[in-house]
Amino acid sequence: MRRLFTNISSLVGILPEGILRKEGAAMDEVGILENAWLLVEGGLIAAFGTASDPLPDADETIDAQGGMVMPAFCDSHTHIVYAGSREGEFLDKINGLSYEEIAARGGGILNSSDLLHRTSEEELYRQAMERVSEMIAKGTGAIEIKSGYGLNPEDEMKMLRVIDRIRSTSPALIRSTFLGAHAVGRGYTHEGYVEEVCRMMPRAAKYADFVDVFCDEGFFTVEDTARILEAGAACGLKPKIHANELAVSGGVQVGVRYGALSVDHLERTTDAEIEALRGTSTMPTMLPGSSFFLGIPYGRAKDYINAGLGVALASDYNPGSSPSGDMRFVMALGCIRMRLTPARAFNAVTLNSACAMGVSGETGSITVGKLANLILTEPGWNLTKIPYLHHTPFIKEVYLKGEKYGTDN
Ligand code: NIG
Ligand code: FE
Repeated sequence: MRRLFTNISSLVGILPEGILRKEGAAMDEVGILENAWLLVEGGLIAAFGTASDPLPDADETIDAQGGMVMPAFCDSHTHIVYAGSREGEFLDKINGLSYEEIAARGGGILNSSDLLHRTSEEELYRQAMERVSEMIAKGTGAIEIKSGYGLNPEDEMKMLRVIDRIRSTSPALIRSTFLGAHAVGRGYTHEGYVEEVCRMMPRAAKYADFVDVFCDEGFFTVEDTARILEAGAACGLKPKIHANELAVSGGVQVGVRYGALSVDHLERTTDAEIEALRGTSTMPTMLPGSSFFLGIPYGRAKDYINAGLGVALASDYNPGSSPSGDMRFVMALGCIRMRLTPARAFNAVTLNSACAMGVSGETGSITVGKLANLILTEPGWNLTKIPYLHHTPFIKEVYLKGEKYGTDN
């Protein structure tokens, strides 16, 4: 099946083959072709050109009517498998309690863990798939999903099976992360739970692509993190780390030491973290939706970029610190609150976020041979307007693996 998009006002995010991330000055660059066409074949991007190039033959032609086409967003950090919600804590937060205070009262992650324990696997899958559908409709085509509300072997495996089922049933590209070390499970001592997480690793590795630890004040230490990452490495799991959300935790450095694919959050950083990341392949990933919701600092994205590093942005969609998977809003926060240019924010929510979940060879740009995961906008849109008019509907259609989302998927 050859599907041809014509009358594209601008084809945004063009990248030659083989570039898996953008760093430093390259984050200012976005490949754009005006008056373009794009050919999709077998679910992949097959060719593109301008109106002056000859149009290829196709089985179906879609008139973009002057809309823009860009790669679908990639969301490298989510916790979308959870039960119910935590709106009671939302009220506590409005009334002045911090994230840490809510957690210390037995709320927070443990609250979600209790609820997940009482929810069937089927129901958990149903609720998570609703979130996946909502995210795809908002333009996301690749999603990393973490466990971490099970906090005992049985419930962590339940979560990992649900993620695996999403992987095989959703048209989005899914990656799975074992975050057993999200909080100490009920009934365990801290030490006993770290051991339990290490013991779970071989079973978790049957489903998960990555291992994650919440390395932060009041959760897991650098020493705990090192132990867990070693157990993960023994089972072939690369790390992705939660670090520096609540305090400067040492999580960046331990992540780098174990070859982490990404270190995430980074709301609190010193120059030492930037220095530790230089010359490594670890992607600094910031989650402005959590900064927005919790009222904590935004990451110093510009300083990272000025130091020659890349930056990815992701949603952190979860019930406690970022109850939204809207990557367009993440992009807008990147521009409005972190002072990223639209070009930098675009690279952060597409290619670099794909890189932070190990899939930038498959998606995250307009490149021949990559998945045809695409957003077709309404007419009149351009890259700058997307974050500027931050809540005006802009998506006309979303295509995943070349198929229009919402027709039969
Ligand atoms: O990334 N920081 C740790 N984990 C999540 C929050 C999870 C929750 O509160 O349910 C985060 O912000
Ligand atoms: Fe998170």
